[in-house]
Amino acid sequence: ATGRTLIRELASHLDGTVTVHGWIDTLRLQRRMQFVLVRDHTGLVQLAHRRGGEGDPIEAVLDTVTVESAVRITGKVLANPQVRLGGLEIVPERVEVLAAAESGLPIDERAGLDQRLDWRFLDLRRPSRRLVFEVQSTVERAMRAVAAEGGFTELHTPKLMGAASESGAEVFPVEYFGRTAYLAQSPQFYKQMAIAGGIDRVFEIGPVFRAEPSFTSRHATEFTGVDVEMAWVDGVEEVMEFEERMLRRVLAEVHAEHGERIAELLGAEVVVPKAPFPRITLADAMARLRAGGWDPEGTAVDLDPAGERALAALAAEESGHEFVFVTEYPAGVRPFYHHRPPGRPEVTASFDLLWKGVEITTGAQREHRYEVLCAQAREKGMELGPLARYLDCFRYGTPPHGGFGLGLARLLMLLLGLPSIREATFLFRGPHRLEP
Ligand code: 4AD
Repeated sequence: ATGRTLIRELASHLDGTVTVHGWIDTLRLQRRMQFVLVRDHTGLVQLAHRRGGEGDPIEAVLDTVTVESAVRITGKVLANPQVRLGGLEIVPERVEVLAAAESGLPIDERAGLDQRLDWRFLDLRRPSRRLVFEVQSTVERAMRAVAAEGGFTELHTPKLMGAASESGAEVFPVEYFGRTAYLAQSPQFYKQMAIAGGIDRVFEIGPVFRAEPSFTSRHATEFTGVDVEMAWVDGVEEVMEFEERMLRRVLAEVHAEHGERIAELLGAEVVVPKAPFPRITLADAMARLRAGGWDPEGTAVDLDPAGERALAALAAEESGHEFVFVTEYPAGVRPFYHHRPPGRPEVTASFDLLWKGVEITTGAQREHRYEVLCAQAREKGMELGPLARYLDCFRYGTPPHGGFGLGLARLLMLLLGLPSIREATFLFRGPHRLEP
C-alpha cells in the first residue's frame, strides 16, 4: 500500500508521521489512556491515545474495536523509553478499521493442535507459526541455488497417472473421464524418464500423494517432496555427496537468515553439520544395535523407528553428528528398480538418510539395464504390462543414474524442533483431515 511503513522500520521515522497496517493484538483501555498493541508481519508497536472525551473519534473507535481486527493507523512516532517495544510508540491521529474481527476468537494459546488446524489462518497470525514457512521458503531457495550450481534442470512431472507409480499400494484413485487415474506417489518414474531423455540432472519440488492410513507425527497423505536424479553416476556415493552439499547449504542459509528468530521463538538451534556425514551399512547398524540391546519384534530385516532412534544415538555418541547415512539395504526391502552392486545381488546400492533418528530421505542408484530391470521386477512378482511405459525408457540407451527423495515437512520439523509434520505443513492432509 502506498505510504505503508512496516513496524520494524519505525525507528527510522522517529518524530515523523507514518501509516501502519496491521491487526489489533492487545487492548488496554484505561480511564485516561487507551493503549493498543498493533501487529504486522514484522513486529508489534504500541499506540498511546489520551482520551479526548465526547466527540473524540479515535477514542470511540478504540473503545469498540475488537482484537484481530485489521486496521490502518496514521500517527506520530515518538520515543518513549518506558515502552519495551523498541522504546517508541505511536500517538494516533487517525484510526481506521478496515475489517472488524468478530468478538470471541475460536482459538487462543490453549487451543489443541486439531482446533488450531481447523482455524489455521488464525493460528498463523502468531509469529512463531509463520516463521516455519519463512524458513521453508529459505530452504527451497537454498536447494534451488545448489541445484542450479550443480547443473540441474527443475522439472514439473504430472501428478495424474494412468498407472500407479512405485508399488501400486497406497495410491489414491481418481475418477478420470470414465476411467481411473491415480495421484502420483512419487516423481520417481518421470525423473528417470527425464534422465533417459538426456536431461543430465533433474530435480523437482512438488506434491506427493500417499494413501497411507498412518497417524504418526511423520506421515501425511499429501506432502511436498524434493526429488533429485543424476545421470552418469559411478555409484550411489556421488548421490549421497550431493545431498550432503545440499543440506549443508540449506542449514547455512537458514542459520544466517533466521537463526536468531528460530532460537528466540522456537527455542531451536540451527547448526551447520560437518561433511562427510557418517555412513554405516544396514547390516553393521543392525548388528551393533542388537549387541547394544535393540530388540525388534519378529525377524526384522530393516530398522524400526526405535532402531532408527538408537542408531542416531550411537552415531551422535561416536561422531558427534546428528545425520547418518544407512547404506546397502537388502534387495528384499527395496523396490525392483534399485541397482544391485556387481556380484552382490542380495543388496542394493541404496541409502536412507536419518536426521535425529528420523528418516528424511530414501535414495539409490537405479538399475539402468533393461533386461536386468525386467528380471528384478519379475523377481518381485510384478506384472510387466502396467510397467511397459516405464520399461520402454530403458530400451534405447539410458545412462547409469541415481537420486533421492526427501520429505520437506520432515526436514522442517527436525530443523525447527517441531513435534509433528502437522506443524511444518501449511495445510496438513491426513486420513482424517481434508479441511480446511
Ligand atoms: O522413502 P520414499 O517413499 O521414497 C521414494 O519416494 C522413492 N521414489 C525415492 C525417491 O527418489 N523419491 O519417500 C521419500 C521421502 C521419505 O524419506 C520421507 O522423508 C518422505 O519422502 N515421506 C513422507 N513424508 C510425509 N508423509 C509421508 N507419508 C511420507 N512418505 C515419505
